[in-house]
Amino acid sequence: MSTGLAPRPYRLDVHPPDTTGEGLADDVRRGLAAPPYVLPPKHFYDEHGSDLFERITRLPEYYQSRTELAILRAIAPGLVARRGVGEIVELGSGASRKTAALLDAMREDGRPGRYIPFDVCPEAILAAAGRLTGAYPGLDVHGVAGDFDHHLGGVPDPAAPGSRLVAFLGGTIGNLEPADRTPFLRRVARLLGDDDLLLVGTDLAGDPERIRAAYDDAEGVTAEFNLNVLRVINRELGAGFDLDAFDHVAVYDPGPPWIEMRLRSRRDQIVRIPAIGLEVPFARGQEIRTEISCKFTRASVAEMYEAAGLRLVEWHEDPAGWFAVSVAARA
Ligand code: SAH
Ligand code: AVI
Repeated sequence: MSTGLAPRPYRLDVHPPDTTGEGLADDVRRGLAAPPYVLPPKHFYDEHGSDLFERITRLPEYYQSRTELAILRAIAPGLVARRGVGEIVELGSGASRKTAALLDAMREDGRPGRYIPFDVCPEAILAAAGRLTGAYPGLDVHGVAGDFDHHLGGVPDPAAPGSRLVAFLGGTIGNLEPADRTPFLRRVARLLGDDDLLLVGTDLAGDPERIRAAYDDAEGVTAEFNLNVLRVINRELGAGFDLDAFDHVAVYDPGPPWIEMRLRSRRDQIVRIPAIGLEVPFARGQEIRTEISCKFTRASVAEMYEAAGLRLVEWHEDPAGWFAVSVAARA
């Protein structure tokens, strides 16, 4: 469709890590100083890790991305038109693929609009910004590279006509520790005015084997993604992790319920991390927990919003009940 509008230059603000204690060195020191070993998932996503995640989204076992996209395609036009959405802030935007459903709806509704992708991976934002300014002439793209646990204050104030939609897609909210969710959502709520909305994708609890398979694909892409955190630590901190000495493990725990990704040592070994003066001993079979991915129900999502001063206003799930997109507003 020709709009007569030219592609606009885009902008990227970068919030460097290591200034507020959120950096890799601190996380590795905290997580590997003593067992049980734990690393936060944000360090998967250097440029290579972001590309690996994109490959994951296309795997047959990883139902989440295509299911969420189908829901978004179905609900975006109505939501955007009803609320007069003119600005989209997307947290953990990655390649911004599914965002097209929202941007298409905004364009159809006659607003070129503004898009604020926020991600820890600046390369992912730049690639998306280049593609989207070409595909959506007139779209104002203002990217923010930073950590959503620390830099949400760097999200620019609303500027576009219409209301603001803050999107947190992919089920990434499930990668937060449950105890961190309420403070995180309270900070997100500060980005919302009275007429604004929050749109969140959540993977739903269900068949353990289907869910586990999504994290242990036959092609081994998820294993590569999991091992990438060791590659990042080797590069950034001069560590000596031998990637062949760790196995990818995905375990479904019905208790929380969540999937845990772990890296399991294949042998007794000591890994040196010179930049932080740490030596990490591993017995054969000893593991690092690298990610949790929580699975939700409608009730647990409603409860999560309520705890953060938000209210569930819309709930959309696919016919099989595998994935949900919910809409929330300030209570
Ligand atoms: N929303 C996309 C990508 C999901 S992958 C989708 O649904 O396909 C998770 C994304 O969140 C990655 O792009 C990763 O870089 C980003 N991310 C993870 N932890 C983050 C953090 N603490 N701060 C900012 N971005 C983060
Ligand atoms: C980004 N996040 C929602 C993904 C998930 O499903 O928890 C990350 C991922 N880990 C392994 N595969 C995909």
